[in-house]
Amino acid sequence: MEVSSVRANDETAEYQLAASRIEPYGTPLTISLPAKTDPTASHVTLSIDVATTKDCTALQWLTPAQTSNKKHPYIFSQCQAIHARSLFPCQDTPDVKSTFTFNIRSPLPVLASGLPTGPKDFQPSKDGKPGTLLYTFHQEIPMPSYLFALASGDIASASIGPRSTVWTGPEELTASQWEFEKDTEAYIQAAEKVVYPYAWTTYNVLVLPPSFPYGGMENPVYTFATPTVVSGDRQNVDVIAHELSHSWSGNLVSNASWEHFWLNEGWTEYLERRIIAAVHGSDQYRDFSAIIGWKALEDSIAQFGEDHNFTKLIPDLKGKDPDDAFSSVPYEKGFVFLYHFEKLLGIEKWDKFIPHYFTTFKQKSVDSYEFKATLLDFFANDADAAKKLQNVDWDTWFYAPGFPPKPDFDTTLADQCYALADKWQALAENRKESDFKPSAKDIESWTANQSVVFLERLQSLPDHPITPELINLMGTTYGYESSKNVELVSRFYTLGLMSRAESVYKPTAELLGEVGRMKFVRPLYRQLIMRDRKLAGRTFEENRDFYHPICRGMVEKLFEKHG
Ligand code: BES
Ligand code: ZN
Repeated sequence: MEVSSVRANDETAEYQLAASRIEPYGTPLTISLPAKTDPTASHVTLSIDVATTKDCTALQWLTPAQTSNKKHPYIFSQCQAIHARSLFPCQDTPDVKSTFTFNIRSPLPVLASGLPTGPKDFQPSKDGKPGTLLYTFHQEIPMPSYLFALASGDIASASIGPRSTVWTGPEELTASQWEFEKDTEAYIQAAEKVVYPYAWTTYNVLVLPPSFPYGGMENPVYTFATPTVVSGDRQNVDVIAHELSHSWSGNLVSNASWEHFWLNEGWTEYLERRIIAAVHGSDQYRDFSAIIGWKALEDSIAQFGEDHNFTKLIPDLKGKDPDDAFSSVPYEKGFVFLYHFEKLLGIEKWDKFIPHYFTTFKQKSVDSYEFKATLLDFFANDADAAKKLQNVDWDTWFYAPGFPPKPDFDTTLADQCYALADKWQALAENRKESDFKPSAKDIESWTANQSVVFLERLQSLPDHPITPELINLMGTTYGYESSKNVELVSRFYTLGLMSRAESVYKPTAELLGEVGRMKFVRPLYRQLIMRDRKLAGRTFEENRDFYHPICRGMVEKLFEKHG
């Protein structure tokens, strides 16, 4: 960013930006306080004039042509993990929290990560520029800089619950409303039962343009979400259960540094799955979600290698970019750790600890050692629980790379998926006992996520026995080819690419021009680069401007890695 002036306690102050950047962290800004500053004062008021540059990694600016109705420009931010510093000077660590007031002028509606206190002060158009309103927000709960967020564009809102609204482009509004109105309030109430009442007054969802690089981002008051969650079948609302859960784990109780990221994401997976179990009235559903999570953990560990630092629950991130360390490890290893405590102590005792932990560290930041101390302390006077906790091998959990012990998940919902995968495997291997004739009936009663588990099972088969012909048969018989559910379709294409089914190459390239969510973009490029490097390269060049700067950088790294 460019800094043009600094004032301290209303006096002009000398400041210095270091001559060179320290990658990947940026440039320190050093401010010298005016000579007459009282050295015993408890605080100093700084006012810094800054402008972002075209290299700002926290923002994506979309031209009208890049939006769905092509009428207006759009801007949105994504600050987690260390991009807030490209937007405003700050102590960009989650160990520092503060309240925020946001004042933003725009010709189009604005959302920011606080409660709206405007808009106000309309200024009419001038010199051909459109008129603007001053949009104002306040966040009274102290929050870390990575939760700062803003978006502005042609957006409208609709109610999805008594304390919730969804925001998105006017053309997409009714579909988004339908997707979320059934579950949002039920999720909030389920989470409140496990932890304690929701603290942020309203819980809203902003559905962003397709280049949004994540599934969801837990910005306070307004969760930011990828449009791929609006799949028309309410099958991806678990993303909302996840982002909502961050209202406790992450946003009220924040990881003190990115090395303790599992305290954000592991706890959030845990709460998300408690919500899923509660609304379905059965633990089968949470274990089914955990089974999908375990496969994601396997993929991440395979990517890094079993001995890699980034597969530790607490990795060493000194000098590293947290975006490079990002994977399913903190999510799923963290989840398994907490699930382990639930089983070890019994749900009744564990459920008493949950609100205690979230009360102890409310509005604070926490590391893994404080988590451990608080847990041990809470059960110190319960001989049975204390003994069980004494036997926990903390150092192995915290610092051993690779897999944690695999829990004994309830496989009821996954078994049907595995059984069908076995049949396809037998078909592929031409086994005599197989008289299996695939038909649409095979998956008639399934949810989309059951198809995901089926497809991932086939991806994991050694030597990839599924032939291109079988991929085509599967695509037409089960309708995977034409599914609007990107979770499903991306798994189908990945399997197709692994199986060298050329019929999926072009559709993969097309999908890569329609969604910029890294969860889909990265594995698809990884496969496409191996199968058809030219097509992969061309697809990236054509869509370079469509991707968010973070996603673009990640894909560039993939091309470098694969020569
Ligand atoms: N906070 C994360 C997204 C994130 C993590 C952004 C690290 C930047 C750096 C968010 O809560 C998240 O986990 N999103 C998931 C969806 C979820 C259902 C697992 C995603 O984007 O896929
Ligand atoms: Zn999360």
